[in-house]
Amino acid sequence: MRRGRSSQLIRDMLSEFSINTKKLVMPIFLDESLNGKREIPSMPGIFRYDLKSFSIHLEDLVSSGITNILLFGIPGKKDSIGSSSYAEDGIVQRAISLAKEKFKVNVFVDLCLCEYTDTGQCGIIKDGYVDNDSTLSVYNRIAVSYAKAGADFVAPSGMMDGQVGSIRKALDAAGYQNVMIMAYSNKYASSLYSPFRDAADSAPKIGDRKSYQMDYRRAEEFILETSMDVEEGADVIMVKPGLFYLDIVKSVKQKFSLPLAVYSVSGEYSMLKTALEKGILPAEVLDEYIYSIFRAGADIVISYFALELGKRYQETKN
Ligand code: PBG
Ligand code: ZN
Repeated sequence: MRRGRSSQLIRDMLSEFSINTKKLVMPIFLDESLNGKREIPSMPGIFRYDLKSFSIHLEDLVSSGITNILLFGIPGKKDSIGSSSYAEDGIVQRAISLAKEKFKVNVFVDLCLCEYTDTGQCGIIKDGYVDNDSTLSVYNRIAVSYAKAGADFVAPSGMMDGQVGSIRKALDAAGYQNVMIMAYSNKYASSLYSPFRDAADSAPKIGDRKSYQMDYRRAEEFILETSMDVEEGADVIMVKPGLFYLDIVKSVKQKFSLPLAVYSVSGEYSMLKTALEKGILPAEVLDEYIYSIFRAGADIVISYFALELGKRYQETKN
């Protein structure tokens, strides 16, 4: 076996994978109340942006080979139904238009209510419970507003049943047949989202998300969740988080033929980034990290390291 590992040139020739930065997606936080950009304390090196600094960030991304972005918004005001989410002049809607007008990028937009509701829940509360179907009608409205602004993909992350089908119908009815849906098909209720909730100011004020996000103690539920999204019209399916769920990634890849995105979430970023900053781990760990996710079967990886990886693979020409 060692003959196949005997030199760098041999190893490079025999490698079965290489990183294509066109398959990486960079998440970006837009803050309606901000002037400039501000670092997120729980995610060192990741910032919230206003529109002007967003534009500068986009230049940096594109010149580093990263041409896919996933947008999140933090609105100036929250209410019980999250009405800022579908405002035509909302920060996300304006960011979509700006990105599509000025840059050659694929724009994905996370579609959820937790950043917009005063409860921090991903849906509308009725009698103390997140109500599925009244939430869907708000999701439809948000989807159409993102499509109208020029989004390429809407990405519903709220884990309401039927959200993909409902949004697909609403987009079609409004004339947006070509706007795609990236379905958060397998989104587990995970502690690894906690830095994100700081970043997006979206922590639930009461309760948790376990009545809609998946229970990681169930290993087979992904089949049903993914099948439903496929039937409802998803264009891309997803597993989220990444690193602790690579078994699920591999299984989804083997059973379904739609493009598979893996969301390597905030907690994965913050763990690695902290260890890197403290010098506990070497920079090469990032290669092992990103290769592991592609090797498990990801077609697309959403990672807060996307920009850093873009720069890294430009430098090393790996
Ligand atoms: C909103 C949403 C969350 C993430 C993506 N979209 C948070 C959550 O569900 O609590 C998590 C992303 C991350 O941790 O990086 N529903
Ligand atoms: Zn949410």
